[in-house]
Amino acid sequence: MSSIISGAQRVIVFDTTMRDGEQSPGASMSLDEKLELAKILEEMGVDVIEAGFPIASNGDFEAVREVARIVTESTVCGLARAAAADIDRCAEALKPAARSRIHTFLSTSPVHMKWKLQMEPDAVLEAVSASVSHARNLCGDVEWSAEDATRTDREFLYRCVEAAIRAGAGTINLPDTVGYTYPEEYAQLFRDVIATVPGADNVIFSAHCHNDLGLAVANSLAAVQGGARQVECAVNGIGERAGNAALEEIVMAMRVRGETLGFDSAVEPLHITRASRYVSAITGFPVQFNKAIVGKNAFAHEAGIHQDGMLKNAETYEIMKPEDVGQGASNLVMGKHSGRHAFREKLKALGYELGQNALNEAFVRFKELADKKKHVFDDDIIALVDDALARGSEKIRVAKLRVVAGTDGQSAELTLDVDGVEKTAEATGDGPVDAVFNAIHMIVPHAAALRLFQVHAVTEGTDAQAQVSVRLEEDGRIATGQAADTDTLTASAKAYVNALNNLFSRKEKSRPETAIASGF
Ligand code: KIV
Ligand code: ZN
Repeated sequence: MSSIISGAQRVIVFDTTMRDGEQSPGASMSLDEKLELAKILEEMGVDVIEAGFPIASNGDFEAVREVARIVTESTVCGLARAAAADIDRCAEALKPAARSRIHTFLSTSPVHMKWKLQMEPDAVLEAVSASVSHARNLCGDVEWSAEDATRTDREFLYRCVEAAIRAGAGTINLPDTVGYTYPEEYAQLFRDVIATVPGADNVIFSAHCHNDLGLAVANSLAAVQGGARQVECAVNGIGERAGNAALEEIVMAMRVRGETLGFDSAVEPLHITRASRYVSAITGFPVQFNKAIVGKNAFAHEAGIHQDGMLKNAETYEIMKPEDVGQGASNLVMGKHSGRHAFREKLKALGYELGQNALNEAFVRFKELADKKKHVFDDDIIALVDDALARGSEKIRVAKLRVVAGTDGQSAELTLDVDGVEKTAEATGDGPVDAVFNAIHMIVPHAAALRLFQVHAVTEGTDAQAQVSVRLEEDGRIATGQAADTDTLTASAKAYVNALNNLFSRKEKSRPETAIASGF
């Protein structure tokens, strides 16, 4: 685990990639993907992992319970509305956790109380006390959030926060739910609440910022300056609408400027790139090239004058080293003569600790890739390992694919292994990808609609691996699949089949009504 800058105060990092992040339109993660992500987050040193909203669906319940089973160092948190049934279900899901937290919330702003909750302020205040006490009877660690805190009447917010503290909340979150505030205002909100509310000294205050005005990270850091000691964030900044504050930006801002700010976190930045790539792959959301910290261009220097400066001294244009966040410094690494030991060391440097079986499998695939591709880069290895992890224990697998493409038309002959039985189909289509997908349809009839088909080259050159993401939707259920291969059509077939496997294994994923039916 990384050491904190000496003299800096520790800020708790609360990751909500699997909860608020998964609420991004189109983002959806399978159970296996959530478990893998939870392992990465724990390895990074994230303090609290919000794994889902257990009442929302059986899938969310199962995800929180399974994350709670495997995570031992980080606190595992589940979200619950201010209703007894929500809180009970959340507590049930968290049972296996070594450290657990119930996060319960209720809207406090006039617009939310009137239109969303249709509750009078006094009833809201009562529900705050009742829900937090109920949660506190089931779990020693309770966080309470005043949803839409930044548009809440200040006096009423003080009363609600006081009620939550009296009822036993140990963490009070003041979310900027609609991404409306700006840094000075948000910092002052924390100062005011902490100075005014009795008992505020005994709890941790938390910031949860949405990025509607592009201010989520700046607002989160301002909140810390105003007295917050927990920040809620998501890998790659995914989340409702414009997203949440980006975990990687918050962590690195505190690490790079920690001495001036006086704050730091216990997150080890080395795993940041891996986490970012993994989240991008499983959600199908690409990371913009110029994204801070994790974008492809975040450490690229194009202008001649910059390159000249960099060659003389990297500090001329770099405020942090790419290696610090897990972006390989020497990118050209391995070839077909590289051995198993070197491969394992490389994986370690990239942040992967694989078990023996997974390592053996990944090594075989690496050798196959090295036979096809002259230069194997770090990005190739990451794509290869993530691809193997995504495939997990699939029921349907691509066994063989032959495609004919050209000016005379396109056709695909595909063999899938379906539960151990090989089935073959031939199909034509509007282009080779369409032909491949039509062949999949013939072997595995299904009603899912294709919502996303995305291809990107993992590295440069015509022999680059193609990384393909596919998103399918059926009856409101969404599943994403991904695959990487030097053959774009093979990668497309595998990604589609991966999405189908995820769709079939996914339980009904319905969101609860947003309006609360307070059970108190
Ligand atoms: O944005 C928000 O207010 C939330 C709460 C549930 C914390 O996500
Ligand atoms: Zn949120």
